[in-house]
Amino acid sequence: MAKPDPIPASQSAAEMPQLVLPEHANVMGNVLGGMVMHWIDLAAVLSGRRHCRRMVVTAAVSQLSFLNPIKVGGLAILKSKVVYTGRTSIDVKVEVFSEELNTGEVKKTSSAYVTLVAVGDQGELVEVPPVLPETEEEKSEFEAAKARKQNLKREKL
Ligand SMILES: CC(C)(COP(=O)(O)OP(=O)(O)OC[C@H]1O[C@@H](n2cnc3c(N)ncnc32)[C@H](O)[C@@H]1OP(=O)(O)O)[C@@H](O)C(=O)NCCC(=O)NCCS
Repeated sequence: MAKPDPIPASQSAAEMPQLVLPEHANVMGNVLGGMVMHWIDLAAVLSGRRHCRRMVVTAAVSQLSFLNPIKVGGLAILKSKVVYTGRTSIDVKVEVFSEELNTGEVKKTSSAYVTLVAVGDQGELVEVPPVLPETEEEKSEFEAAKARKQNLKREKL
């Protein structure tokens, strides 16, 4: 079967706003780290599915960082995009920002790389279309993700 055409990275770009409520927060009024991880997973799945139009499962999360807290009453904004694809896997970069709704101040609060694997109806692994990085930033993310994947393979040997 012919290889599917590459899909521009920009086609998987997604922005997911999340109003921050008390139920998302710890006793200090900051969003719980685990909640941010949940949102990161959802944002990654959104981009992954936009890319491959298949079901995906999460295989790994790497380079997760928490840079600033997100306060209750503000907005968390998750920006995600596919950065790399293997045979069945899709690497998605997710960045999280806080927006203070009274002032409009925006701060980067987290980032992570999520590896998803595409699966068919019976849970079998399926091939994904290759991603096409177009901008300089997308090309640089692609090369960095490729290097991470190669390192991972070397560690497994
Ligand atoms: C993820 C999963 C499908 C991988 O299955 P597997 O039999 O190990 O498959 P493979 O070893 O052939 O790996 C499949 C792909 O995933 C990648 N992969 C698997 N584990 C990985 C990891 N820890 N980190 C990065 N990539 C990984 C492989 O590199 C491969 O990529 P490629 O096809 O693009 O080269 C399987 O481990 C699984 O079902 N895990 C549970 C998923 C889950 O429940 N997630 C949470 C809820 S969605």
